[in-house]
Amino acid sequence: MSDMTPTRTALADIVTSLTLPVVAAPMTRVSGPEIVGAACTAGIIGSIPAHNAPSTAHLDTLLTDLEAELGERSRLVMPNIVVHRSNRRLAADIECLAAHRIGAVIASVGAPDVIIEPLQRAGIAVLADVATMRHAQRAARAGVDGLVLLTAGAGGQTGTANPFAFVRAVRQQFDGVVALAGGIADGRSILAAQVAGADLAYLGTRFLATRESRADADYQAAVVNADLDDVRLTTAVSGLRSSVLATWIEEHFDDNSGRSASTGFSHDVLTSTEPFAWSAGHAVAAVTAITGLAVVVDTLRAEYQRAADETRAFLTHSLPSTV
Ligand SMILES: Cc1cc2nc3c(=O)[nH]c(=O)nc-3n(C[C@H](O)[C@H](O)[C@H](O)COP(=O)(O)O)c2cc1C
Repeated sequence: MSDMTPTRTALADIVTSLTLPVVAAPMTRVSGPEIVGAACTAGIIGSIPAHNAPSTAHLDTLLTDLEAELGERSRLVMPNIVVHRSNRRLAADIECLAAHRIGAVIASVGAPDVIIEPLQRAGIAVLADVATMRHAQRAARAGVDGLVLLTAGAGGQTGTANPFAFVRAVRQQFDGVVALAGGIADGRSILAAQVAGADLAYLGTRFLATRESRADADYQAAVVNADLDDVRLTTAVSGLRSSVLATWIEEHFDDNSGRSASTGFSHDVLTSTEPFAWSAGHAVAAVTAITGLAVVVDTLRAEYQRAADETRAFLTHSLPSTV
């Protein structure tokens, strides 16, 4: 897969135009136009699940407003769409997304095939969430422009693969854009993701406790107070393996196990008006205060710069002379 299609070239150009190689990742009930607008204004990619808009018409208005707010930077907007068969809005949402000046769409929960042709024809790149090599290979064969690798400890629907091993295995077979998701929450880790072979770091949990986040005050406080050990794996939220805060499990399950009778995923869970689980990944340890999103991005950028300077010094002075 070394052919540079127009959408793949355009996506690569967007990646190099960023002020920091970061995606503010899509989060059910948490991402709204506020988070996306602030992310793109700060020069990083901003994503929002299409299902966070209550209807396709709302999604259309939301994207039109973001285009007016962001101008050329609306190419940094990369909405997420659940491609699972239970998504009854899929066809309408694809048509809506294809009509907007956005850089890419990120497919999750299923094979991305149905969205690739209509979006690429409209000049919009397609990325797919994958948690296994089998899914990565299938998505690459279907013609995606980029892959999001879900690895252990990611917030929301998580993977279980080791990030080092997963990036290296995918890089042996795929030369499109690779975003690494799972536990990345500071500038040094963003640089480490690039050194490992990823193009982008995909951060959700780090942006949960921002002023632009739609997580409510109790949820944000729980994120700020939580440590890595307070994150549990459960299938109780959506039928898929997800990372959630232990405080939420303790409140919702008598036996504290997070086990549920759930038999499978349904898109309806994401769009229902029921209160949603307090999801967060291992990166909660890095979230110690509620601030504006621009402050988080400035902090990440400063940490990234410091890590780059220290790495340069390490390469010059400390790398074993045999290397
Ligand atoms: C509260 C929450 C909701 C999420 N909802 C979605 C979603 O709707 N669609 C999706 O593709 N990923 C979703 N995710 C996963 C994120 O997009 C991303 O993969 C993950 O947060 C990256 O790992 P990190 O949390 O360790 O940074 C969600 C994550 C969180 C924390």
